[in-house]
Amino acid sequence: LDEEPEVHKGLAGVLADTTSISKVDAETNSLLYRGYPVQDLCAHRTFLDVAHLLWSGDLPTPSEQQALSEREKALRPIDRSLQTLLMQMPTTCHPMDTLRTAVSWLGSEDVQEDDPQANASKSLRLLAALPTVVAIDQRRRRGLDPIAPDPSLDYSANFFHMTFGSVPEPEVVRAFEVSMILYAEHSFNASTFTARVVTSTLSDLYSAVVAGIGALKGPLHGGANEAVMHMLSEIDGPEEAEAWLSEALAAKKKIMGFGHRVYKRGDSRVPTLQASLEEVAALRGADDLLATHAALAAAMFREKGLHPNLDYPAGPLYHLMGFDIPMFTPLFVMSRITGWTAHISEQLAANSLIRPLAAYQGTGWRQVTA
Ligand code: SDX
Repeated sequence: LDEEPEVHKGLAGVLADTTSISKVDAETNSLLYRGYPVQDLCAHRTFLDVAHLLWSGDLPTPSEQQALSEREKALRPIDRSLQTLLMQMPTTCHPMDTLRTAVSWLGSEDVQEDDPQANASKSLRLLAALPTVVAIDQRRRRGLDPIAPDPSLDYSANFFHMTFGSVPEPEVVRAFEVSMILYAEHSFNASTFTARVVTSTLSDLYSAVVAGIGALKGPLHGGANEAVMHMLSEIDGPEEAEAWLSEALAAKKKIMGFGHRVYKRGDSRVPTLQASLEEVAALRGADDLLATHAALAAAMFREKGLHPNLDYPAGPLYHLMGFDIPMFTPLFVMSRITGWTAHISEQLAANSLIRPLAAYQGTGWRQVTA
């Protein structure tokens, strides 16, 4: 009798390659970007510094910092024809569809070669232009005209300006920046791996990013930050959380924002973003939402022993910042574009086509009859 081949469903536990970009350590519950603890980067650095770190391997010097900031500001405006295309997208489509289309459009008009230097410039172009696309999409869905980027404002402040026409309190801008740093990179997660698979065929960077957006959209991955807020909106206060959860679990529903393929003792990024959520909730007087959020997490731990993942604090945080729920996953893209493009470069630098095997379980050999 043939031995059953060992199948690694969902590639769980499989080491598919090496990486020098980040280290997710479930044992010590830690996350390092190029050796730096992500919490320390949140405390002392900007999202642009972290982009530089992920792309180049090191934090920027002051002159590199300034050069990067100037280039980012210069690359924010988008072409008028892309703006027209965005305005023509159906408002019934998900904002991730708008973003996927925009990246495809940006790729179609980029005539640069596919070499490492050109890829570095494409990565920065996407980091700079995606916030402009997301802000336009949020505004058009509210029946509002686009607001041009403001080069006197840094990355996060400019994004608020383009989305809402004003910049909130420094604590809120900082909380947004922290969320961008925490979402930036997480090793071989589904969307990053997708981008690496596309890259491994020697396809182009934009195609890999479009594929990454497609993978991130799903609720088991980035789409969870939206699902968390939909779920919290269904619960009428902290005293209802337990009953809501029992009913959902009895119906065999997945509780969004909980569990993780790698972290089994809690997501290393959660305490940092939870602190930002609490700060913003205090500023916005959102005690009730915060209490419901805490009550559901406590009940989930009692019932299933599962910890929240990063999407659990991110959902309500983005809600309190004023973004509509369907815009939350595009905010994740604005950040993860750094990790995806760092992995695309790493894949290309030592490429091997990603092409696993499948254990065939279908019908055996049979004769075709005329
Ligand atoms: C992200 O990998 C990354 O790095 C991703 C990410 C990143 O930075 O890129 O961290 C971002 O995608 C976070 C995850 C966001 N997704 C969700 O919040 C969706 C809800 N969570 C789950 O569906 C689930 O926990 C996953 C998808 C995150 C992980 O799934 P696994 O590793 O395949 O685990 P599993 O589904 O096999 O669950 C094991 C057990 C099962 O119970 P049993 O069959 O053993 O009895 O735990 C249960 C599951 O039913 N379980 C849940 C649950 N998560 C796990 N039950 C209810 N609700 C949940 N959320």
